[in-house]
Amino acid sequence: MPQQHRPGRRARRASASPLFTPHGTDRASRRAARKQLAEAEAKARAAAAVHGTEPAEAQMPTPTYPSSGRSGAASARGSVLRLPAHRMTTAVAAGAYPFLAEGGLGADGIYIGRDVHAEAAFTFDPFTLYGKVEGFTNPNVLLAGVIGQGKSALAKSFALRSVAFGYRVYVPCDPKGEWTPVAQALGGTSIALGPGLPGRLNPLDAAPRPPSVPEADWAGEIRKRRLLLLGSLARTVLGRDLMPMEHTALDIALDGVVKAAAHAGRTPLLGDIAHTLAQPALLDQAAGTVSGHLGDAARDLAHALRRMVHGDLAGMFDAPSTVAFDPNTPMLSIDLSRLGGSGDDTGLVLAMTCASAWMESALTDPRGGRRWIVYDEAWRILRHPALLQRMQAQWKLSRGLGIANLMVVHRLSDLLSAGDAGSQGRALAEGLLADCSTRIVYRQETDQLHAAAALLGLTSVETEAISHLSRGRGLWKVAGRSFIVQHLLHPAEQHLFDTDARMH
Ligand SMILES: Nc1ncnc2c1ncn2[C@@H]1O[C@H](COP(=O)(O)OP(=O)(O)OP(=O)(O)O)[C@@H](O)[C@H]1O
Ligand SMILES: [Mg+2]
Repeated sequence: MPQQHRPGRRARRASASPLFTPHGTDRASRRAARKQLAEAEAKARAAAAVHGTEPAEAQMPTPTYPSSGRSGAASARGSVLRLPAHRMTTAVAAGAYPFLAEGGLGADGIYIGRDVHAEAAFTFDPFTLYGKVEGFTNPNVLLAGVIGQGKSALAKSFALRSVAFGYRVYVPCDPKGEWTPVAQALGGTSIALGPGLPGRLNPLDAAPRPPSVPEADWAGEIRKRRLLLLGSLARTVLGRDLMPMEHTALDIALDGVVKAAAHAGRTPLLGDIAHTLAQPALLDQAAGTVSGHLGDAARDLAHALRRMVHGDLAGMFDAPSTVAFDPNTPMLSIDLSRLGGSGDDTGLVLAMTCASAWMESALTDPRGGRRWIVYDEAWRILRHPALLQRMQAQWKLSRGLGIANLMVVHRLSDLLSAGDAGSQGRALAEGLLADCSTRIVYRQETDQLHAAAALLGLTSVETEAISHLSRGRGLWKVAGRSFIVQHLLHPAEQHLFDTDARMH
C-alpha cells in the first residue's frame, strides 16, 4: 500500500518529527533511534492488525478536507457563511473588545463624524461631558498632527457647528488668515493687523469688572495681568529671565503710567511704559527708597519694549484699540497673516501674545455664555516659556468662565521644546497638557511616536494606530477613553475650509 494512503503516516508528517532527540546527539545515535522507532511502530501496527485495534495516534482526528478547503456554505467564501447575528449592548461590547469597541460618549453635542471602530456617529461637546464622564475635569482640547492632516478643518468644524448650539467662537491669533472666511460666513468679525493696516489693539485694555468681584480685587487682578503680559513680552525679546531689579522697574513703571493715564482719563499704552523705562532719572525718583539705581537696571527692558513701539510691530499694539469688543458677535478672529513674513518668528509670536491678551481680557464676563477659544498654530508660542506662563494663567481662569480652549500643535514634542526636563518651561507645558481632558492626535511622524506615547500614556495599539492615520482621522483620548474618529466634512465646509486651493 502506498504510504500517502495510510492516515497514521499522514498525520505524523504534518508535524516536524515524532521523535525527540536531545541537542548534541550525534548522527549515528539519531539514526539508530529513528530505526528503533520505526521498528516499534511496525510491531505495534502488526499487533493492531491481529487484535483489530488501531494504535492511539492513528485514532486521532485527521484533516479530511482537500487542500482547497471545505466546499459549500461552510467554506466561508463568496459570502455564503451565515451566522446568527449576536447582539449585545455597547457596554458589554466595550468589555468584551476593549479599545476596539468603546461604549460611546452619548449622543449630545456636535456631530464630528464616524467612530471608525464602532461604525457609529461620533458627537462631542466638552461642556456636556464635564461632570458626566469620570476624569473629565476640564473642557479644554489639545489637537496635534503633522502638516495638512486637517487639524484646522476640524477646529473650524467645531466652530461652525457649535454656533448652532449658541456657543461663541474666538480666534485670538490666526497667523495664516484662514479663519476670516469662516468668521464672515458665520456673521462674525475679523480684525486684520499688520503694517499699513488701520487696525490697532491695546493689550493693556482693562477688562470690564464682573459684578460679583469687588472693585479693589479687580484692580489687583488687572494689574497682575498687565504685569504678566509685560514680563512675558520682555522675557521673549531678551531671551532670558528677568532680574529682580528689572521686575521692580516694570512694577514701578506700570504703576506710574497707570496713575498718569487715569489722571488724563485715558488707557495706559505700551509706549508709555517703554518711555518711562527709558528715563533712568524718572524711575529712580519713582522708586524712592529702593536701593540701587533702578534706572540703569532697566536699560535692557527699555530696549526690549521699544521693539513693540518702534520695531516691526510699530503702532499695532501701542495705540488705543480701534475696535470695541462686541460680546454678542458669534465669532471673532484676529488675522495676523500680514505679519511674520520675514524669517524671524519673534515679531509674530509677540503679536500673537498681545492679540490673545487683548481678547482674553475682554472675555472675563462669566455671563458671556459658553465660548470656544481657538489657538491655531499654538506650537509657535510653546517655544517661549514666558508666553506659556501667561497662557496657563489664562487657562486657569477660563474654566470658571465657561470657556473651552482648543490648542493646535504639530507634534507633542512641541510641548517638550519649552524647556529641559524639570525646568519651569517644561513644567508649564506639562501643566497645559494636564489641563486638556481631551487630546486629539492626528498622524505623527515615526520619530515622534515615542514622545507622543510617553506624554499621553498611549498603549502600543494606539501608538501603532497614530502612525497610520489618514487625513481627517484621529485618535481621540477623551479623559482616558479612546476613539478613532473620521472627521466628515460637509461639501459646503470643504469649500469654506479649503487651505489646499493654491496647491490645485
Ligand atoms: N476630514 C476631511 N475630509 C476631507 N478633506 C479634509 C478633511 N480635513 C481636512 N481636509 C482638507 O485638507 C486640507 C488641509 O487641511 P487643514 O488646513 O485643516 O490642515 P492642517 O492640519 O491644519 O494643516 P497645517 O498644519 O498646515 O495648518 C484642506 O484643504 C481641507 O479641506
Ligand atoms: Mg492648520
